[in-house]
Amino acid sequence: MLASSRPANRPQVKPTITGSNGQPRPTGAPPTAPSRPANRPNVKATVKPGGTTSTTPQVRPVPRPIPRPAPPQTGPRRMAQELISASGKRTIRELHMQGQRVLLRVDFNVPLSDGKIVDDSRIRAAVPTIKALLDGGASVVIMSHLGRPDGRVVDGLRLRPAAERLTQLIRVNVPTTGDALGVGTDDAVRRLRPGELLLLENVRFHAGEERNDPAFAERLASYGDVFVNDAFGAAHRAHASTVGVAAYLPSYVGLLMEQEVEALSNLLEKPARPFAAIVGGGKVSGKVAVLEALIKKVDLLILGGGVANTFLVASGRSVGKSLYESKMVDDARRILKLAQDRGVRVLLPVDGVVAKEVTRGTEFKVVSTDKLPASWHMVDLGPASITAIREALAPIKTILWNGPLGVFEIPSFAVATRELAKVAAEKADAGATVVVGGGDSIAALRQLGVAEKMTHLSTGGGASLEFLEGRDLPGLAVVPTAGSPYETLPIIYVSPVKPGGKAAAKRAPAKPKPIIKPSALDDEDDESDTLA
Ligand code: 3PG
Ligand code: MG
Repeated sequence: MLASSRPANRPQVKPTITGSNGQPRPTGAPPTAPSRPANRPNVKATVKPGGTTSTTPQVRPVPRPIPRPAPPQTGPRRMAQELISASGKRTIRELHMQGQRVLLRVDFNVPLSDGKIVDDSRIRAAVPTIKALLDGGASVVIMSHLGRPDGRVVDGLRLRPAAERLTQLIRVNVPTTGDALGVGTDDAVRRLRPGELLLLENVRFHAGEERNDPAFAERLASYGDVFVNDAFGAAHRAHASTVGVAAYLPSYVGLLMEQEVEALSNLLEKPARPFAAIVGGGKVSGKVAVLEALIKKVDLLILGGGVANTFLVASGRSVGKSLYESKMVDDARRILKLAQDRGVRVLLPVDGVVAKEVTRGTEFKVVSTDKLPASWHMVDLGPASITAIREALAPIKTILWNGPLGVFEIPSFAVATRELAKVAAEKADAGATVVVGGGDSIAALRQLGVAEKMTHLSTGGGASLEFLEGRDLPGLAVVPTAGSPYETLPIIYVSPVKPGGKAAAKRAPAKPKPIIKPSALDDEDDESDTLA
């Protein structure tokens, strides 16, 4: 069923991928090269780590044959079940890796400052899958996005820093290509040997990525014999590299995806009680659905950050100049009512740190949330709120935490978030299940050196929220369930719709009907939202 059906006639060629010193590096090519199609482009190329690819095309690339989905012998109901299931997916444990060329999607969308990676959690999290594939004798072509370059080349969003970090972590040189596609990339891929890998340049430099353009997906798919999706953080995006390629290749999930799904499913399905969710961050919009879903699961809901401000307004308080969303006040009221009806306790801040401006070095003081001064901004929770949180969490056995409690980027206003990180570590030490998602919350844990104590750190911001909401994640939905008779699911095609809001979605042609909607339309950024 898998790519072993391809001709075993790859010519044994010496790669010219250069190492970090610019010298050709040893390849360890096996005496017999693994199977691959005979129609790869015959081009010469050199790829430097993080650098550009120079090429001398000799023959135009010929598209490879596309594996067709197996006929639907088991009927539509079976297929529907495969779509609905968010867990039990076919993982790389089922993959015979030796000699396979694996097209691996990871989420290396890491925070950068001055070209340096501020938090490498997502790269670290991808290492087990990458190592398993390399150790299993696969060659690995890695795809990722970084930032939102909107289909243009943005030098500051090149993946070279991620490649360098990965090189350090796995101690294997990770070259990058100058472009996700192109004859140079074709050749670099063709020259890969078992146990070698390369990282394609940012797939979002191509407009076809976010549009899930089938032609772009097909070209990417030509770089692999099988597709492995390990990008949990981007699994809520129906893009070419997360969803589109699965139409052309037998698809699997990686170990990170598996672990994330398991940890988050356990949380929803069988949490030890009492169960508390702590939700912070800047905005309620985009979190309404997850808050509604959580109210049905938790015993205690603790709110902080800008999210709490909107709820304070909904409960009749004024928040001065603090960030809050007037349009979301009714939703917040509805959620409070739902909590009341279900007997769920909602803990809102009783005091806060207010500042003249949301900047470093500004004047600030602690006030009660009953008397927030009109011309100040709430930028963090105050000490009484932190004590209340600590007390409320005392009997709690399961904690889900997503989002900072204050303006975490400014150290003076990161106090409550850091205090909560301490409490989370104490709770984990005492045997509670603690699951944390969102970049700032995890950064706080890392700063205190307690991240590893957590039961699970989710690499997904938006993805984990959508999962907790109970929505199907497109990047998971496209992977067949374990033991599936299908190489690919016959549902993958998503009509390319220009990003541009829900109106654009409505204008999209009805045929073919997308089963998975491009999520560029529903983007609500999650962990990056701030109170500023
Ligand atoms: C994320 O960080 O949320 C994921 O990497 C997806 O990125 P996006 O929100 O820009 O689509
Ligand atoms: Mg996001």
